[in-house]
Amino acid sequence: MQIDWEPLVQAAHKVREHAYAPFSKFRVGAALLTADGRIFTGCNIENRTYGLTLCAERCAIAAWVAAGSPGHPQALVVHADLSPPARPCGLCRETLAEFTKDLPILLTNPKGERDLVTLKEIFPQPFEWTGPAHGR
Ligand code: THU
Repeated sequence: MQIDWEPLVQAAHKVREHAYAPFSKFRVGAALLTADGRIFTGCNIENRTYGLTLCAERCAIAAWVAAGSPGHPQALVVHADLSPPARPCGLCRETLAEFTKDLPILLTNPKGERDLVTLKEIFPQPFEWTGPAHGR
């Protein structure tokens, strides 16, 4: 499938402005494209306990799941002010792997740098146990 990255990049830029990051001041935006053509966005949401911080990628996944998980994840853009562009953290990689075997991920920053990776590349060995009650 040919990914039209530009609307996703724009969506990640826009949602990054909504980040709640008073502690780190490091704002992150994520935009998830699903097979039905919809875009689900997320930003990081920090917490004074620090440990409760929600990353932008998991926020986007949460928005998609809360909408009923329509369409399979097709592509993800992550936008943050880091050079080279920021990679998703381990928690986010594991969360993405829960819902997709592989996913093209475009990492961008305000300088216009872009790195295209795949989930498989950056997270080759997910936890694979599915559990006795897996499925919906
Ligand atoms: N953050 C993300 O939103 N995504 C990641 O993959 C890594 C880190 C956020 C969490 C925290 O609010 C800030 O970036 C600094 O770690």
